[in-house]
Amino acid sequence: MKKSSYIGLYLCGLIATSLISSAYAETDNIDSANLYLAKACAGCHGVDGRSPVDPYYPKIAGQNEGYLYNQLRDMKNGSRNNSQSNIMKGIMTAVSEKEMRAIAAWLAKQ
Ligand code: HEC
Repeated sequence: MKKSSYIGLYLCGLIATSLISSAYAETDNIDSANLYLAKACAGCHGVDGRSPVDPYYPKIAGQNEGYLYNQLRDMKNGSRNNSQSNIMKGIMTAVSEKEMRAIAAWLAKQ
């Protein structure tokens, strides 16, 4: 291989590495408060996560992060499946794995 090809490969590697790290940086900086609003969570659980619009809807702020994440995941994949959690299932189709983790971490701190 010519020397210039090696340099080209090296540059491609550098560009790929910087693209990957900027993708991670973006998800790490998710604005979880806005995400919670953008995904319409506040419409049922209240802006602060502790003033649900219906007495049969749960308060979710201040709950343990791991518990919150597990509930979101289970309602999304259908393993938590009862009359009320079916309401959540539709919502969760639009919430990704990373977003579930970000929202759970944010809610736990409220
Ligand atoms: C249309 C109303 C509605 C919306 C919108 C909604 N939820 Fe829910 N959520 C519910 C209901 C109802 C339950 C209770 C399910 C049950 O009784 O099993 C619930 C349950 C939960 C739970 C489980 C609480 C527990 O103690 O186990 C979490 C966490 C949660 N929601 C978070 C969210 C998040 C995050 C969003 C936005 C992505 C969201 N919800 C959007 C109605 C809603």
